[in-house]
Order: sequence, then C-alpha cells, then structure tokens
Amino acid sequence: MTQLPASYVPRHVAIIMDGNGRWAQQRGLSRLQGHQEGAQSVQAVLQACRKAGVKFLTLYAFSTENWVRPRSEVNGLMKLLMQFLKEHEPDLHKHKIRLRAIGRLDDLPRPLQAILRHVMKATESYDAGQLVLCLSYGGRAEIVHAASKIARRVKAGELAVADIDEAEFARNLYAPDVPDPDLMIRTSGEMRLSNFLLWQLSYTELYVTDALWPDFREDQFFKALAEYGRRRRRFGHIR
Ligand code: FPP
Repeated sequence: MTQLPASYVPRHVAIIMDGNGRWAQQRGLSRLQGHQEGAQSVQAVLQACRKAGVKFLTLYAFSTENWVRPRSEVNGLMKLLMQFLKEHEPDLHKHKIRLRAIGRLDDLPRPLQAILRHVMKATESYDAGQLVLCLSYGGRAEIVHAASKIARRVKAGELAVADIDEAEFARNLYAPDVPDPDLMIRTSGEMRLSNFLLWQLSYTELYVTDALWPDFREDQFFKALAEYGRRRRRFGHIR
C-alpha cells in the first residue's frame, strides 16, 4: 500500500521503539541482537515514511534513563548508532533527508558526537524530510533546559517576564522549528509516555501496538497510518 489518501498521512510521526529486549529473549538471543534487529526496523520505517510522504520522523533511540543499563548494552547501543550513521549517510544524501539529534548530546561518547556533528552539518540544507534522533533524551530535561535558557535571557535583560508565553517557551526547546508530532507510535504494548516529548505530544494522536519493535516493519507502519486516518483530531474544539 503506497498510495494513501492525504488525510492518512501525518506530517510528523514520533516513535517509542520498545521491545527489542523481549524480542531477543523470546529467541534465546542477546539483548544487543534485539537492538540490531531493531535497527533494521528503523531502516524499514524510514523507507516507509518516504513512500507515504511523512516528512518528519522522530525516534526515541536512547533516553536519559537508559544510562543505568549494563555497560555492555550501553556500549553496544552506542556502537550500533555509530554504525547506523556511517551506513546510512549515503542514503540521507540520496534522498535529501536532514539528520537532527536532540538530547544531552554532551553525554554521548566522543566518537558518536563527532559523527553526529559531521552528518548533521553535511545534511543541514536538505528539506525533503527530517530524521530526528533522540539521544540521551528526556522530556523533563528538555523542559528544564528551555526554562533555564529563558531565565538567563530574562536575567540578562533580553526578555521581559510578560513576554513569556507558550510560543516563546516552545522557541527554547531543542528543535523549535520541527512541528509537533501528529502521530506517536509505541511498540510492545506499554501504555506510557516514558518521558518522551512531553511538551510536544500535547495534541498528538497515540497509537500503541503489541508488536515488538524488531517486528514493526512497513506493513505495521501503514496499519498505524490507516488508524491515524480514521481519527478525528479536535484540538479541544467541538466538531
Ligand atoms: C527499547 O527496547 C529500545 C531501546 C532502549 C533502544 C532503541 C534502539 C534501537 C532500535 C537501535 C537502533 C536505533 C537507531 C536509531 C539506529 P528495550 O530494550 O527496552 O526492550 P524491552 O522492553 O523488551 O527490554
């Protein structure tokens, strides 16, 4: 299914890619093998976004809470992210996709920071689509970061307290020019936000599937878009 009615197509899809560990455990594999298979789903969903015309894809790849996992898993995930960026840079150029990374990027290993900086710079002029990776990301940390930026500007006399409204606050988030997600997908059945895009998800349609992330491929993605197409978005109004 590649030709979807326009109303099925969200401009921005955000995903909590959950269930890699369980997928691996069910098969007697290591958690890292689950993440590796999860990276294949990332590739499949990126391609599905291009087919469907989804312009922004935001992926929760590593949270501020994930640092407490065993060191071997954290290191393996960091390596996997580096490998993914190296392998996918040509694809981003080919399809004119801009890479963004949001979160506490200074927490990441230096070699990963370096490749992120390189790919972000090399793709910054592209506008066919954007891939936003959330790395060492937490929604509360993002809100606190925005609040402290605003406080500094008020202290420096650059901003009046009376001028702080929702629009001004949002301009201080990590990627203020990225529109709020229209659809948020969470795999593996958990009904939680897990500190993901707390500000931006205010009016986002939520879709939770029992499929584990490594099993979430193009057909599952199009199923989510079809469900989105059936939703009535009211944004607090009566319609
Ligand atoms: C949650 O599953 C998943 C993560 C913490 C990592 C997500 C990372 C990837 C899919 C790897 C590649 C990413 C990119 C962008 C290339 P879990 O480990 O918490 O699963 P569980 O709840 O079943 O244990």
